[in-house]
Amino acid sequence: MTTANPLKIGFCCPTIDAQPWADALAHKLPSAQMHIWPGSTESLDYALTWSPTQEFFDAQPRLKAVFALGAGMDSLLKLRLPESLPLVRIEDGGMASQMQDYVTHALLRHVYRFDRYEQDTRTGLWQQYAESLPEHYPVGILGLGELGSKIAERVRDLGFPVCGWSRSPKVLQGIRCYSGDELPKFLASCRVLVCALPLTAQTQNILNEKNLSLLQSSAYLINVARGAHLVEEDLLKLLASGHIAGAYLDVLRTEPAPVDHPFRSHPSITLTPHIAAQTLMQPSIAQISEKIRMLEKGQAISGVVQRERGY
Ligand code: NAP
Ligand code: GLV
Repeated sequence: MTTANPLKIGFCCPTIDAQPWADALAHKLPSAQMHIWPGSTESLDYALTWSPTQEFFDAQPRLKAVFALGAGMDSLLKLRLPESLPLVRIEDGGMASQMQDYVTHALLRHVYRFDRYEQDTRTGLWQQYAESLPEHYPVGILGLGELGSKIAERVRDLGFPVCGWSRSPKVLQGIRCYSGDELPKFLASCRVLVCALPLTAQTQNILNEKNLSLLQSSAYLINVARGAHLVEEDLLKLLASGHIAGAYLDVLRTEPAPVDHPFRSHPSITLTPHIAAQTLMQPSIAQISEKIRMLEKGQAISGVVQRERGY
């Protein structure tokens, strides 16, 4: 990393203003050159991406690594990229505490019926419902990684019975951990289901009628992962039957949701526009710049996608 032979770092982030991100990285790596695509045709050492395009990568023959400005790698993995090119995700970077707050909000709003009281008082009613307490709502977290494990710990600390499901077995204090083919047993033990899985060939459509029917009756669904985890018609069916009482969804198969999407007007569904955990510039750039330094020294870094497992 000398000024005689500066590192060239590019930004392929067509849906956001990349300039502040480039400025922040330049501050951390003052001898590196920053290039924003489109507009630059430099051959780059490293790329930082958000909603990246194939066109950008097709013109980059000598990348040493690609960093996503997020935790989910599904949009990068859809592209044709050399098998040996390391793809690196943000590890927490301030997202876990946002996810904890989001899930806490959705959960407490449902359990203590704040949603119903808000609706009732607006429509002229003044009535109290029977007591509803955390112990009546066992919560299950699909995915116990950087974000899911932190969500599970926060929900446990609020007094809810908590369990989780992951690919490999885990041990987390006060949390019943299931893995692999124990999915049906895990689902049967939950009344609230929180999805914090990466989107992969194995997890796509996992929130389907068969799986959601295994939840305890009057279940509640919170999806903070990806829209393609949920089979949307199946949720509508289970809401109509009453097996599912409601859902709080941060992600949809099509974003932004079309104005006539049935979820927008459904009384038991709350939507937010993919904001459960936003990428924070300072911690993310600190993480990426440190990883670039390590790679330049020939050191191994964490957060590299394992292509064979899809995350
Ligand atoms: P992560 O650290 O990679 O954790 C993923 C977890 O899912 C791990 O526990 C993993 O099991 C488990 N898993 C993966 N495939 C599985 C399978 N087939 N069966 C069972 N468990 C499986 O990911 P993260 O950082 O927590 O992020 C999770 C996802 O959240 C991201 O991929 C992204 O899509 C989404 N996200 C959404 C927002 C938002 O604003 N809505 C923001 C950030 C992230 P192992 O522990 O055994 O590997
Ligand atoms: C956001 O959805 C992310 O994957 O970071």
